Amino acid sequence: MSSLDLTDPTKLSVEPGELPEKMTAWVIREERFGEPRDAFQLEEIEVPEPGAFEVIVRVMAAGVNYNNVWAALGQPVSVMKYGDHPEYGHHIGGSDASGIVWKVGEGVTRWKPGDEVIIHCNMASYEDPEVHGLDPMAAPSQMIWGYETTWGSFAQFTKVQAQQLLPKPKHLTWEEAASYGLVYFTAYRMLMTQCDMQAGDKVLIWGAAGGLGVFAVQLCAAAGAECVGVVSSPEKGKLVEQLGATGWIDRNEFKGMMRTGDETPEQEKARFKESRRFGKAVSEILGDAPNIVFEHVGKATFPTSVLTVKPFGKVVICAGTTGFNLDFDVRYLWMKQKQIIGSHFANAWECNKANALIESGQIRPVLWNTYGFDGVAKAHQQMRDNEHLGKISILVGAEKEGLGKTAEGPGAILAEVGA
Ligand SMILES: NC(=O)c1ccc[n+]([C@@H]2O[C@H](COP(=O)([O-])OP(=O)(O)OC[C@H]3O[C@@H](n4cnc5c(N)ncnc54)[C@H](OP(=O)(O)O)[C@@H]3O)[C@@H](O)[C@H]2O)c1
Repeated sequence: MSSLDLTDPTKLSVEPGELPEKMTAWVIREERFGEPRDAFQLEEIEVPEPGAFEVIVRVMAAGVNYNNVWAALGQPVSVMKYGDHPEYGHHIGGSDASGIVWKVGEGVTRWKPGDEVIIHCNMASYEDPEVHGLDPMAAPSQMIWGYETTWGSFAQFTKVQAQQLLPKPKHLTWEEAASYGLVYFTAYRMLMTQCDMQAGDKVLIWGAAGGLGVFAVQLCAAAGAECVGVVSSPEKGKLVEQLGATGWIDRNEFKGMMRTGDETPEQEKARFKESRRFGKAVSEILGDAPNIVFEHVGKATFPTSVLTVKPFGKVVICAGTTGFNLDFDVRYLWMKQKQIIGSHFANAWECNKANALIESGQIRPVLWNTYGFDGVAKAHQQMRDNEHLGKISILVGAEKEGLGKTAEGPGAILAEVGA
């Protein structure tokens, strides 16, 4: 019988540099794909050794993201088909973490045991030429750690490539530092790289109080761009305003603009009218139509996004939460020379540049809740049910909230308003 207490990831009998044989981890398996509350189960798992240019990090806190809602559901694809899953047969999710470098593999020189880090979630093979000139996101081997691969952060230890490590901002606690990477770095690439956002730009942000949205709003404010955030309650609207948005719109007032997909021509006409009314409301707040639309909702909102963006403007999209088969009236795209830009996470350079804005306090994590290790399944279920605001962190190695901060500075914004 093992002496490992699966419910207590804070206990360790090894020093940095040494790994125990087994660890506790929240695991998803193919046979229990379904609602997150059931799909995640605690299991005892062997601790992996680091390969060349790899690092084993002791996870102090982990961040919750929508990707592991998809992983739990086994929808729209089973993650078990990707990356190293077929080799191990399990999925340990978690694409955000703060922690301590515990053991380094051959060839690692920038990091040593004891270093305090956060982790970005892009992995790519060192051997792919795209990594060395074009963009690691273009590499055939590109994968999201803790989603397309196992050994994510909902475990005592995680295995990552050395290039995924970033210095932990000293003024943040473990749970604050673990909370923002995936969504913030994604929003950074979408707006700063893909749209080359400048002072004076006008931006429409869907889901502005959600994970991506809270950072999109802050990036607009930091860059001197004006933005309007779409939300589903006045409480969320207040949060978005506090983060620097020019204004917000409650999408419940424009229910008729959402595309459902099974509409009659008359219904489509009525929807179009509602989208126009929404566009007018956006322009009233911004003083003009937005030249950038920040999209991730997909099917329900995409026709409105294309219609609302200004001629020659850009719709940048990284997801299709309500459906990924999009249809829209393409005349508004070509006649007005609008652009649709796909975007996915970020490269290590962008992550480092974005993290510097966190280190300087210009951008702040937005934390809604921190749960103990037992909260992994519940947190993903809340996200699935859209009952959250901003981000949720999970304490793993950290015994309680508030630890890990070694310098003064603005911490996370606490999204305390009810969802
Ligand atoms: N490709 C990438 O690299 C990447 C990176 C990060 C996330 N993603 C994906 O992006 C999506 C959003 O992620 P997130 O972390 O921001 O999730 P989130 O925290 O759940 O936020 C999404 C927001 O979208 C809004 N929303 C939900 N349903 C909607 C609907 N029917 N119409 C309009 N708005 C709706 C909700 O806000 P209101 O209810 O207030 O409107 C919600 O807060 C997920 O599918 C995720 O997997 C992709």
